[in-house]
Amino acid sequence: MTAHETQAQIREPATAPFPQDFRWGAATSAYQIEGAVAEDGRGRSIWDTFCDTPGAVLGGDTAAEAVDHYHRYREDVALMAGLGLNAYRFSLSWPRIQPSGTGPADQRGLDFYRRLVDELLEAGIEPWITLYHWDLPQALEDKGGWPERDTALRFAEFAALAHGALGDRVSNWMTINEPWCAAYLGYASGEHAPGRREPAAALEAAHHLLLGHGLAVEAMRGQRSGARIGPAVNLYAVSPAADTPEDLDAARRIDGLQNRFFLDALLLGRYPDDLLEDLAPFGFADCVRDGDMRVVGVRNDLLGINYYTRHTVSGRPGDATQAVSSPFSTVSPWVGSEHVRFVGQGKPVTGMGWEVDPDGLLEVLARLHREYPAVPLYITENGAGYDDVLDADDAVRDDERIAYLDAHLRVCARAIDAGIPLRGYFTWSLMDNFEWAWGYSKRFGLVYVDYATQRRIPKASARWYARTIRRGGLPD
Ligand code: NOJ
Repeated sequence: MTAHETQAQIREPATAPFPQDFRWGAATSAYQIEGAVAEDGRGRSIWDTFCDTPGAVLGGDTAAEAVDHYHRYREDVALMAGLGLNAYRFSLSWPRIQPSGTGPADQRGLDFYRRLVDELLEAGIEPWITLYHWDLPQALEDKGGWPERDTALRFAEFAALAHGALGDRVSNWMTINEPWCAAYLGYASGEHAPGRREPAAALEAAHHLLLGHGLAVEAMRGQRSGARIGPAVNLYAVSPAADTPEDLDAARRIDGLQNRFFLDALLLGRYPDDLLEDLAPFGFADCVRDGDMRVVGVRNDLLGINYYTRHTVSGRPGDATQAVSSPFSTVSPWVGSEHVRFVGQGKPVTGMGWEVDPDGLLEVLARLHREYPAVPLYITENGAGYDDVLDADDAVRDDERIAYLDAHLRVCARAIDAGIPLRGYFTWSLMDNFEWAWGYSKRFGLVYVDYATQRRIPKASARWYARTIRRGGLPD
């Protein structure tokens, strides 16, 4: 037998298109995993306050300890190395670095991230930093939060501080994570911190998050060259429940608020005309100043896409179709019609109640490729929350998660095959963690965390992902 034949036997055939330098990663965020909320000078964030608000988080859970990553980061990096990840996406806690959201950096906060980054580099794992994953310093919320323009300026200052300190060893930077959630769940529906229910303020928040992104990119580029910077947006496939004028218009509105608002602003430097019209009654355009859109539309080196599911929407009054839970369902005077509603297509749902719809990911990627200027694309989040159970033999058999990830990665392969510049995939999440308003009730990790002991137990999906990475793709 020749050496070539032996190799072919050992290496299972993999779906062809994943390139050699494809980023195989996993993602987390600071507030969801770090804990240590009062250590080393960290200031309070809006999520600390929200967790202290009775009834805000399911079961009264808090992230005061979370999964104790602040103290266990070495063990966690070792887990990543065991999985064979070549990239890891995590976020910086703004109030750890600037306790009151302004002023000089607290070196203790920066030192934690220096240690983490060094540990990653040592393990051959590329660090991908997100600057804003929702933990605004409470002091800035006290001054008005994201609906205030000044918060965008403060964010750019924070970005420059962080990049100044870590830019020598970190090349990949995401500015804002899911501005839709930060603005609308935080300031319109009140499901997320700071829990405000002010639709007009939520629109201002959305604009200022985007402005903050643009200002941050400019500030970071002014410091040193070589960084690759971009935003991470949550995108959905959107379809009308039926081919009726009402449903088509509902789909236009939801696609507009969920996808086009952010994509047009970030990639084309303008808000869509139809949305400007819909949102005019809320005085939206008033917060957009001359020159803002040039900043918002600053050139990006990459675009991060968080994809979980599809929205199927009906606009018919009295439509009795089963409503499904959706991140949008509680937001919205400005959906523009009380009749817009999310309906099920009868597909299997995850533990979050979100329908599993991998084809939607292909639609999202194809649309980006077709309608927007080319920019390298990365799936910065994709995954599924299920009610995982630790068996008596210490194993977690999360076959549904494996099926979810497999189906979405097959779509990634098809996208690459079709010439879409998809360069990496980060699954959400490396390990179980604090799922915001759901507390610890939803588990998204490849690694199970026993919250009582903080013991980490790789699930079956972790082993599956490690095999996938080793193989460089999925078996045919
Ligand atoms: C979106 C967010 O970025 C992340 O923080 C969250 O845990 C996951 N999706 C799952 O809901």
